[in-house]
Amino acid sequence: MTILITGGAGFIGSNFIFYQRKAHPEDKLVCVDKLTYAGNLSTLKSVMDDPMFRFYRMDICDRESVYQIFETEKPDVVVNFAAESHVDRSIEDPCVFLQTNIIGTATLMDACRKYGVKRYHQVSTDEVYGDLPLDRPDLFFTEETPIHTSSPYSSSKAAADLLVMAYHRTYGFPATVSRCSNNYGPYHFPEKLIPLMIANCLNDKPLPVYGEGLNVRDWLYVEDHCKAIDLIIRKGRVGEVYNIGGHNEMRNIDIVKLICKELGKPESLITYVTDRKGHDLRYAIDPTKIHNELGWLPETKFTDGLHKTVQWYLDNRAWWEEIISGEYQTYYERMYGNR
Ligand code: NAD
Ligand code: TYD
Repeated sequence: MTILITGGAGFIGSNFIFYQRKAHPEDKLVCVDKLTYAGNLSTLKSVMDDPMFRFYRMDICDRESVYQIFETEKPDVVVNFAAESHVDRSIEDPCVFLQTNIIGTATLMDACRKYGVKRYHQVSTDEVYGDLPLDRPDLFFTEETPIHTSSPYSSSKAAADLLVMAYHRTYGFPATVSRCSNNYGPYHFPEKLIPLMIANCLNDKPLPVYGEGLNVRDWLYVEDHCKAIDLIIRKGRVGEVYNIGGHNEMRNIDIVKLICKELGKPESLITYVTDRKGHDLRYAIDPTKIHNELGWLPETKFTDGLHKTVQWYLDNRAWWEEIISGEYQTYYERMYGNR
């Protein structure tokens, strides 16, 4: 079959492409990506010449181009990773998030309906559930937890999820949605916590921890997320939402200290900076549904995953050094300069 993957030049989309090539070499993959600041064509170098892979530079909001590619490539399945994905940027400038994350999703679904795509999968986030209190470790997000967002990013993702479910109800649109916790691993853009701390450590720069560093995230190795999406598109039930996460809650400060330890850098690099506005306290996924229905379980232990990730950043300096030498510098100065 032919799978159209949007946002495949970004972090999770590219890892999904690599996983698909390995797990299902018989399937043809078509990647479309706008190549925003977060998309990097060099990430896809290893598959560019593969006859079972094709890349198009395209904005998912550009209806005419989207329809044209669907007409040419006739995808059976569409997996939508394309999004503006960074909470801090959404606080600075929400509108582009609404455009890509909501209008882009609607445009893709309209193309799927027009060209009879058999399955549309929306890659969403646990952030649509808002946050959980720090003093209630017994609480987790289930698929029934009400949508209750905090940031412009999570609001735009929640709006897209609601639209997907509305298309399913109204038109019988064959969609599934997954809501995953924080991912980490290779090709993670260095504006996010783990790669930013690794890059700063390697450059002996201060490690900017927001607030007191006590916020909790539920970390999942990216390949485990890719395996879960693969199961959902092949075996998941249409019209269903699946939470993805591996019961791996960590406080930010503990992650940063672990990275210092991995790299043999002093904890004196840690600098506490002004907190993020509206900062979500804790995310924690209950993955019972995907486990019971599809047999999915995370396979990578956090200590192993973090070790592999740190090693990847050590082995691939050129990839992230090129990123942080460009527009990223201006972003970094704006975000952290006077914090
Ligand atoms: P990313 O920012 O690394 O990559 C996003 C990709 O989408 C980039 O390649 C970018 O060029 C592309 N893109 C952006 N706007 C586009 C547009 N208008 N048209 C076409 N392409 C466009 O993001 P990521 O971390 O890989 O996240 C992928 C998806 O997974 C997102 O939908 C995100 O909400 C979701 N998600 C991410 C995490 C996480 O921890 N990173 C967790 C759960 C869910
Ligand atoms: P991030 O990687 O941006 O993911 P999200 O906000 O989507 O969970 O941030 C993860 C956590 O790390 C979040 O609580 C904010 C915190 N953080 C810092 O303390 N310092 C930083 O420089 C960054 C980027 C994040």
